[in-house]
Amino acid sequence: KHQSLCIFVIGASGDLAKKKTYPSLFDLFEHGFLPPHTIICGYARSKKSDDEFRSFISAYLKTKDEEKKSAFLNLCIYRSGAYDSVSDVGAVSKEMETLENATGLCIKNRLFYFAIPPNVFVPIGTSIKHSALSTQGWNRLIVEKPFGHDLNSFNELSRDMGALYSEDEIYRIDHYLGKEMVQNLMLLRFANNTFEPLWNRNYISSVMITFKENIGTQGRGGYFDSYGIIRDVMQNHLLQVLSLVAMEPPVRASGDDYSNFVRDEKVKVLKCIEPLSLENTVLGQYVGNNELNEVGYLEDPTVPADSVTPTFATVVMNVKNARWDGVPFIMKAGKALNDKKVEVRIQFKQAPGATHMFPGVEIPRNELVLRLQPNEAVYMKTNVKSPGLSTKPVASELDLSYNVRYADTYLPEAYTRLVLDVLRGKQATFVRDDELRAAWQIFTPLLNQIESQRLTPIPYVFGTRGPMESDNLVKKFGYEFHSGAYTKCETMAD
Ligand code: BG6
Repeated sequence: KHQSLCIFVIGASGDLAKKKTYPSLFDLFEHGFLPPHTIICGYARSKKSDDEFRSFISAYLKTKDEEKKSAFLNLCIYRSGAYDSVSDVGAVSKEMETLENATGLCIKNRLFYFAIPPNVFVPIGTSIKHSALSTQGWNRLIVEKPFGHDLNSFNELSRDMGALYSEDEIYRIDHYLGKEMVQNLMLLRFANNTFEPLWNRNYISSVMITFKENIGTQGRGGYFDSYGIIRDVMQNHLLQVLSLVAMEPPVRASGDDYSNFVRDEKVKVLKCIEPLSLENTVLGQYVGNNELNEVGYLEDPTVPADSVTPTFATVVMNVKNARWDGVPFIMKAGKALNDKKVEVRIQFKQAPGATHMFPGVEIPRNELVLRLQPNEAVYMKTNVKSPGLSTKPVASELDLSYNVRYADTYLPEAYTRLVLDVLRGKQATFVRDDELRAAWQIFTPLLNQIESQRLTPIPYVFGTRGPMESDNLVKKFGYEFHSGAYTKCETMAD
């Protein structure tokens, strides 16, 4: 309350700013989480008046409270300038200083949200460093992926940004860390005595992390084509989820100053993962589906006609430590599939002796499923006797579906939670420099092989489960598909 806040949204006229940054700032404003003296200054190259800018973001601010919306829009101003110009950035900073001084408050905090591509991180970071930092409050930078393209480009970016800002000023956002179920992971694992004792190679046979989208690249082909599905969601979002599933317990996971305890454990487990092998990788690229009236990846006008960029991949990871030795961590991700969902499936080993006690009947594996989206849920696939006269086992669920159990609870958007963490100075939900280095170490050799050999991905039809070679790979690593569920939930990791 006694500190002013000036938020600079760099790249304010872009897609990310209007779709994610401003809506999350508005969400915070609407729920009373922005300090009373807040100014939000958009900055980008294109020229726009404040009013033009307000109407540009307005359609993305969803609310029933029009008064709050116009109060928020009044806080938003827009200035244009070059990213590499100390004088352009300095002039805007001076203007903000006048507004900050007018509040009469002595502590003036500044948040710089980089909603820009990484090639301008260093130019704008330099301009800000020389002309726009607060000397009477904190300065924090939020930066968005992609953090490099491979290990070398990441190291370069990290060195250049590290020369300008300290690690505790940089908040590298991975919005998966702001999702309800991802944030739930630590509590679920470490605050229950029912899971952690089983959370290891003695009881778990495999872990599968699945990301499915039922849409194609939809006009983002230009960006996507130089990244591919592995960089787009695996090296960042899914690996973050994996590290929280697989890490050892941190010294502390809440209270003051726990950020590095959590991140230390994430880095440790990432360092135990072997670089990926091409042999245990399946790559796919979607082709059109006339029935669904959907075009193939190569027909996207922003994609080169001979592109071999994968839109689907399945990879298998080995976590070489005492807890996980021999347990495959399978990651599967794809665009243009038959479903839209993200989940973690932890498949347990067969109950010892069960096949002898119940000869001749199929006993499905237990599975703990965390559904990140849609419809957050945690459920445990459990064998019970089929109700009635039959004695056959059936897989049923111990089911915690959030939309039933917490029907009226507001679950904020990932970005909203994360920006609030920045305002509160909490770094645990942001990616540390050494985490990213470890992440790139796992993926870079595979990416180099794929790209230097220009490997052709396996075609799959838009709206299907992806290449069947992926199922074969998953089965080879011991994942058992079961069908014939008794209840409404799916039984297949499809
Ligand atoms: C982004 C990727 O980081 O995450 C997109 O660039 C992907 O390709 C998106 O669609 C998925 O995020 P969410 O929150 O919709 O699962």
